[in-house]
Amino acid sequence: MKFQESVFNIIRKRSSCRKYQNVPIKKQTLRILEHAIKKPLKGLFNTEIKYKLVKLPDEIPDSNKLTYRMVRGAKMFLVGVIPQATPETVIDYGYTFEQVILKATELDLGTCWLGQTFRNDYLAKVIELKNDEIIPAISPVGYPTNTTGIRDSIISLAIRSKRRKSWKHFFFQKDFFHTLSREAAGKFSETLEMVRWAPSSRNSQPWRIIKDEKMFHFYIETTEKITPTKFPKLKLLDIGIALCHFDLCVQEQNIKGSWQKIAEKENEKSHLKRYIISWIEK
Ligand SMILES: Cc1cc2nc3c(=O)[nH]c(=O)nc-3n(C[C@H](O)[C@H](O)[C@H](O)COP(=O)(O)O)c2cc1C
Repeated sequence: MKFQESVFNIIRKRSSCRKYQNVPIKKQTLRILEHAIKKPLKGLFNTEIKYKLVKLPDEIPDSNKLTYRMVRGAKMFLVGVIPQATPETVIDYGYTFEQVILKATELDLGTCWLGQTFRNDYLAKVIELKNDEIIPAISPVGYPTNTTGIRDSIISLAIRSKRRKSWKHFFFQKDFFHTLSREAAGKFSETLEMVRWAPSSRNSQPWRIIKDEKMFHFYIETTEKITPTKFPKLKLLDIGIALCHFDLCVQEQNIKGSWQKIAEKENEKSHLKRYIISWIEK
């Protein structure tokens, strides 16, 4: 995904929007967004995911019903499909869909990740979902109302969405016993700050990162087991988003590196943390 604006700025300006103006998206803006999702987007585990802009059909009167009254006024939705749900395809959905969300944000459009409060059955019909195909999450897209709706304010307050946990919760050095200071993070400090501001389901912020020399190991904090068939979908989407922010920011900073799953890390069993993947500087 290519951005015209700095991704650091885009990440800073994004926040969830749950109330939309009843005006169509400008043609030129729509063209740019459509162009950005024309080709499937590839995740770190190689899943290719196709995204679509879906206009609500006449029999679905508004976004209110589709989103269990969470989102008001939206007529367009961003929707993607994975061939089947596995931990890797779900992480890749988080990683790629966040790029689409950030592209929409760059275009001054409002969005809101919806991983729970949307009616899958409505959309399944509209986009003719096949066999094992799954829609892990969707987002409304459109112009935010000028004022924050009462609904947004209540939800924001309930989930403290304008807040993030502090550095010491997320970033560690060598092992989980030593926290990583901003100074010790050096040139990665701003990138990690952008990971800290990633959106997450219920604002639970489950990602944890260990820096070990030139390596960054990514984990999620969860008590749930991750097996090929049983896994916490929302937390895997959350880590996919965190990986996306890290990747886009190091690319913008022109710091070269690559992603790798380190087998030994998976054997380091921890009650609360599940290893996902590492980034290694070249
Ligand atoms: C994977 C994921 C799933 C989410 N699902 C929902 C949802 O079903 N309903 C909702 O209202 N918000 C949902 N959110 C939005 C979060 O509540 C929001 O991102 C978080 O509180 C942080 O607020 P911010 O996006 O304004 O920074 C979801 C976010 C993520 C990342």
